Amino acid sequence: MSIQSRLATTATILLSVVTQVDALNNGVAQLPVMGYNTWNAYHCDINQNLVVTSTNLMKSLGLLDAGYNYINIDDCYALKNRSAAGLIVADPVKFPMGMANLTSYIHSLGFKAGIYSDSGWQTCAGFPGSYSNELVDAQTFHSSWGFDLLKYDNCAVPYDSITHEGTLGRFKRMSDAIASVAATTKTAPMVFSLCEWGWKQPWLWAKELGQSWRTTGDIGQSWDSITSIINFNSFIAPSTDFYGRNDLDILEVGNSGLTYDEARSHWTAWALLKSPLLIGTNLSAITKENLDILTNREIIAINQDPVVGTSITPFRWGINPDWTSNSSFPAQYWSGQTQNGTVIMLLNTLNQEASMSFNFTESPWLRWGRQYSVRDLWTHTDNGTAVRSFTAQVPAHGVAALLLKDAGDEPAGLSPPCAVYYKCTDQNGTLVTAN
Ligand SMILES: *[C@@H]1O[C@H](CO)[C@@H](O)[C@H](O)[C@H]1NC(C)=O
Ligand SMILES: *[C@@H]1O[C@H](CO)[C@@H](O)[C@H](O)[C@H]1NC(C)=O
Ligand SMILES: *[C@@H]1O[C@H](CO)[C@@H](O)[C@H](O)[C@H]1NC(C)=O
Ligand SMILES: *[C@@H]1O[C@H](CO)[C@@H](O)[C@H](O)[C@H]1NC(C)=O
Ligand SMILES: *[C@@H]1O[C@H](CO)[C@@H](O)[C@H](O)[C@H]1NC(C)=O
Ligand SMILES: *[C@@H]1O[C@H](CO)[C@@H](O)[C@H](O)[C@H]1NC(C)=O
Ligand SMILES: *[C@@H]1O[C@H](CO)[C@@H](O)[C@H](O)[C@H]1NC(C)=O
Ligand SMILES: *[C@@H]1O[C@H](CO)[C@@H](O)[C@H](O)[C@H]1NC(C)=O
Repeated sequence: MSIQSRLATTATILLSVVTQVDALNNGVAQLPVMGYNTWNAYHCDINQNLVVTSTNLMKSLGLLDAGYNYINIDDCYALKNRSAAGLIVADPVKFPMGMANLTSYIHSLGFKAGIYSDSGWQTCAGFPGSYSNELVDAQTFHSSWGFDLLKYDNCAVPYDSITHEGTLGRFKRMSDAIASVAATTKTAPMVFSLCEWGWKQPWLWAKELGQSWRTTGDIGQSWDSITSIINFNSFIAPSTDFYGRNDLDILEVGNSGLTYDEARSHWTAWALLKSPLLIGTNLSAITKENLDILTNREIIAINQDPVVGTSITPFRWGINPDWTSNSSFPAQYWSGQTQNGTVIMLLNTLNQEASMSFNFTESPWLRWGRQYSVRDLWTHTDNGTAVRSFTAQVPAHGVAALLLKDAGDEPAGLSPPCAVYYKCTDQNGTLVTAN
């Protein structure tokens, strides 16, 4: 079955079981978006050649094959002023073939195309925003230009005396416009990617409006930025599912400022937290090492899991007490369900190599009294069968990603009879204690 048809099957099952939740969301089951975004590498310095070149490279480097199928144009593609008719105009110097021709080129290579606007008067770089022009802009983006996704920012917010509503209301205006254009044209609605930076807790309400919401301010090219985003998202990871995703922001893999191990940890965390995966580097300069990170198919399969939509969550923090918010030293021990077993992420936030060990009783997804086969998702090796615990050597700022599959009952006669001693009791009432 294709991903799409498996997802459709899954969606049918979920919709029939979880009708309560269905009533609260826009009903569009969605895997995390994967693709390219122009912002991190180029900011406002974008044009048609760059988009065409990046699209060609996404294909020739094998990234489309690996699942990265969106080409998203970020801010700075437009003229500063709308046309006399009130339409956003693509800058004809930067984009001489026009947006409709550009998206048809992007589509002809097998990609979908994304565009950008803002829920205020202007975009963050000062180009026209869509406030009070939502419907006409949704028509321009989708019907006139052929885009399949809209990233929607949060700059230049109108005065309260004009909006009389909160952030939710401003973003809902565009969500409604997207739905309306789709209904009128009988086409699939644009994917709506909210970029509200986590100010008003979008993970509580944005599921009704779109497929993903940014949870923090912009990512930076540093390990500090990566750990701070992971720390923040460790507390809201359970709000991600098929109907909406915490968006941890564009990837910095391939950009300077991160070591190889840091880039690998960054990408692994984004993928296993089920964030959209948007490449943000200069593809003309990408290294084989970074390409290998971006195309780890065993981990991409989990990001795109057609059966389980939820994120990994922490089961233990590490050097700091559990539930501590610490933007430099976030949670280190994570687990989650997948189609094929339990995935474990061990994130070494320390500045030196560490031996990282966990007991199977610590993860809610592992059964007591069972043993597990361990698959290393970075070395792509089967690492034997583990009983009760597993230990990995993890480099400084590095990561281990493991897939644990149930391998039957643990061997008979293990001592002590319970992995957790607390009130471990025989049927005649005898307590077993450690030592
Ligand atoms: C854009 O609009 C502003 C305000 O209406 C006007 O002052 C300005 O001259 C216009 N700029 C161009 C390039 O048309
Ligand atoms: C844009 O597309 C139209 C219709 O397919 C075509 O006639 C035209 O030559 C294209 N323009 C450019 C600049 O590619
Ligand atoms: C992208 O990389 C190519 C190849 O190294 C280089 O020529 C180009 O200047 C880079 N672009 C930017 C904006 O850094
Ligand atoms: C589960 O395993 C199958 C068979 O190897 C594979 O095709 C699929 O992608 C895996 N799913 C996940 C979520 O890893
Ligand atoms: C974060 O954790 C480190 C290591 O335990 C500690 O030194 C630091 O004070 C903590 N920072 C905050 C803000 O709690
Ligand atoms: C793991 O289990 C061992 C006993 O086998 C125990 O000593 C240790 O405290 C446990 N560690 C955690 C973090 O639960
Ligand atoms: C799994 O085995 C491979 C091959 O022996 C080894 O390189 C890797 O470090 C092991 N993984 C873990 C997490 O121990
Ligand atoms: C309870 O059961 C255990 C294990 O079968 C046995 O070793 C122990 O003697 C029993 N204790 C009593 C009080 O019967």
